[in-house]
Amino acid sequence: MTDLRTDGAAALEWAAGYLERVGELPVLAQVAPGEIRSRLPVTAPDDGEPFQDVLRDLDEILLPGVTHWQHPRYFAYFATSAVEEGILAELLAATLNSVAFLWRTAPAATELEYVVLDWVAELLGLPSGWHGHIEDTASTSTLAAIIAAREATGRDLIVCYEQAHSAADKAARMLGMRLRKVPTDDQFRLDPDALGDLSDAAVIVATVGTTASTAVDPVPAIAEACERSGTWLHVDAAYAGTAMVCPEFRWAFAGVDRADSVVVNAHKWMLTPMDCSLLWTRRPEEFRRAFSVIPEFLRTPDAEDALSLSEYGPVLGRRFRALKLWAVLRCRGRSGLQAHVRSGVELAARFEQWVAAEPGWEVCAPRDFSVVCFRLAGDDDRNRAVLERVNASGEMFISQAVLNGQYVLRLAIGQVSTTEADVRLAWEVLRREARDL
Ligand SMILES: Cc1ncc(COP(=O)(O)O)c(C=O)c1O
Repeated sequence: MTDLRTDGAAALEWAAGYLERVGELPVLAQVAPGEIRSRLPVTAPDDGEPFQDVLRDLDEILLPGVTHWQHPRYFAYFATSAVEEGILAELLAATLNSVAFLWRTAPAATELEYVVLDWVAELLGLPSGWHGHIEDTASTSTLAAIIAAREATGRDLIVCYEQAHSAADKAARMLGMRLRKVPTDDQFRLDPDALGDLSDAAVIVATVGTTASTAVDPVPAIAEACERSGTWLHVDAAYAGTAMVCPEFRWAFAGVDRADSVVVNAHKWMLTPMDCSLLWTRRPEEFRRAFSVIPEFLRTPDAEDALSLSEYGPVLGRRFRALKLWAVLRCRGRSGLQAHVRSGVELAARFEQWVAAEPGWEVCAPRDFSVVCFRLAGDDDRNRAVLERVNASGEMFISQAVLNGQYVLRLAIGQVSTTEADVRLAWEVLRREARDL
């Protein structure tokens, strides 16, 4: 039998020790595909084993196969952090094991979700009174918004562009909807003049902070086109939305108040453990029309009905995700989130200056937030080789993107523990590996 006090204390000690030493581990897991699986038994044990054995095997078998997202030199994709209060709240949420599909199955989880979504809307400058709820990921949030858009418009065309996240492509395929991609301008933003005829468009997916270069689409012009054609506007601010907590970045949310739905991932830049995707809409009734299916066993008195958040999205059983977000918002406050965003942006600006000043390297896209797209002079293969070498070193982890048909390197800052020394070390590793090519 697992003892929550003694085994729990050991698990907590493991977690605290891990966060203290994670910076000394190789960022990218140094294992071959299949290696971890081959070290594990092929069947579950017949009889229960002590929890200590689980912790031991976590260290000995699994840890070598962990890519350390909590590492201060994790710079790939979008670097994220799960902070202490969020980690603890996950433990507490699992302890309560609420399944929030009806208001009555989880009144506190349901109502806290409404409250934290209102809090974050206010923090980010979204209009008050919008309906917000939590999905697992931005992929699901965007899928849900597209389904609501189809329901609201009766149309089956999704309009986006090549820099939109592939979640839109995936949604189109899953839903059997048509997808039209419009060209970008020279700064990798959706070009509103290229939108064309929207009379059969159900939804335009615009992005504030694209995945590749964090470009910000001209949302006011796109909103205008949507309003003219009766098209739903979904804004994907999965990464950059968090930056709106700082007044100096609010320009990027211009026009977002005219959107029909907006997604921001708290598990990206808002310090909240994976997974926690925040979806707001000013048209909750359209979501409800799209998603509310109430068989007899789910029937409750009407007053409870509209509050049940499973009526606004694709899933029935819902985790108590609001608890971790609440913990983060309370323990960091507005100022803590602002400090985190500003620190990432300042470090990225410094890195950008170093790259721009170094002969043989170039910055490849405007930098609005904490991501720098850059490359080494020469062909794509040289840049691919540098990326492979720096990642294999274990000292840092970056990823890549394609801009203007060209392969570029991408350094994303978002880890709460990243310091200037980490970014400087990353730059040294990059230059060393480029020299040694
Ligand atoms: C702009 C943008 N939208 C959506 C997503 C998808 O996020 P998720 O992994 O939560 O589905 C990402 C992921 O990086 C993203 O950058």
